[in-house]
Amino acid sequence: MLDFNFKSAINHINEGVVTWSSPSNIALIKYWGKKESQIPENPSISFTLNDCKTTTTLKYSKKEDVNHFSFEIYLDGEQKDDFKPKIETFFKRIEHYVPFLKEYHFTIETSNTFPHSSGIASSASGMSALALCVMSIEKALSETSSSEDEMSQSYFNKKASFLARLGSGSACRSIEGDLIVWGEHKEIKGSSDAYGIVYPYEVHDHFKNYQDTILLVDKGEKQVSSTVGHNLMHNHPFAKRRFEQAHEHMSKLIAILKTGDLDAFIEIVESEALTLHAMMMTSLPYFILMKPNTLEIINAIWAYRNRTKSKICFTLDAGANVHVLYPENEKDAVMEFINNELVVYCQNRHYISDQIGFGANQIQ
Ligand code: PMV
Repeated sequence: MLDFNFKSAINHINEGVVTWSSPSNIALIKYWGKKESQIPENPSISFTLNDCKTTTTLKYSKKEDVNHFSFEIYLDGEQKDDFKPKIETFFKRIEHYVPFLKEYHFTIETSNTFPHSSGIASSASGMSALALCVMSIEKALSETSSSEDEMSQSYFNKKASFLARLGSGSACRSIEGDLIVWGEHKEIKGSSDAYGIVYPYEVHDHFKNYQDTILLVDKGEKQVSSTVGHNLMHNHPFAKRRFEQAHEHMSKLIAILKTGDLDAFIEIVESEALTLHAMMMTSLPYFILMKPNTLEIINAIWAYRNRTKSKICFTLDAGANVHVLYPENEKDAVMEFINNELVVYCQNRHYISDQIGFGANQIQ
């Protein structure tokens, strides 16, 4: 395991500002169930999204008192004290690795490219953007002009992913693109439970610029928080078999990504989505997170696929919204299908079109 402890502050910095933009991601093989310290019970893999992003500016200024964290947080310019407990927990979890946090007062200004109340989880993009900002401060504190002290890009990304994981598990898959693996898998060299890595093997052209249209079926607050959801996997009657299945799916996906077998890809992706929901339906307490329109959409996608031989498929997060995935060469046809047949099932006819992208970038 890499050593992520903070080396030492060489530079004295009184104040500064850093801005990062970081994307959301959509899992093909799902992370659902964790051990202590956000260690996943099984490996997962996701597409990084190009346009669904959080941009976070972190202003920092040295303070006298170093006994507590001090920060304020704004979403779209509006102070958001209800976000504070989550950030405080995040800071506590990462403090050991970035011990300078208590030396500064922070102003966190954040905004999302997707609507706040869209039911799209912003924790992956939000926590990864914040982790990247913290890493930029670490870099500024510890780097000198000597190349010996220079922080490698690879270390920067790995530690950013490691920190992001401690904020929200799936956030560790939002540091780079296009395909990110998180969680140890015996056939994926370099895979780790501690951070995400770029999928290291051949990926067929079919998966380049893959499209994701997110159909907003339910824009409300999540019915079940992911913390509660992950905990439901403890003592779950099917947990052990589910974790094994995720490993098996990953093995199959390695071959599929290489050969470009889209039918086999569809089978795994849809099975993973339904398994995630099946886990929630069979836990205690149990939940149904799909809405009637989620099912209408799934059935319409299956009918369209049968009718047209399209390679369209769906995946789901822990909610009612549907991610429609399809190859770039079907973009026009599938958008026509979505506009003609699927938008009627979306709240206020809202959807977000995105595609698989390259990941995070520093703005300032
Ligand atoms: O990152 P968390 O703790 O919010 O968990 C997210 C889990 C899923 O989105 C449902 C699946 C995944 O792998 O992203």
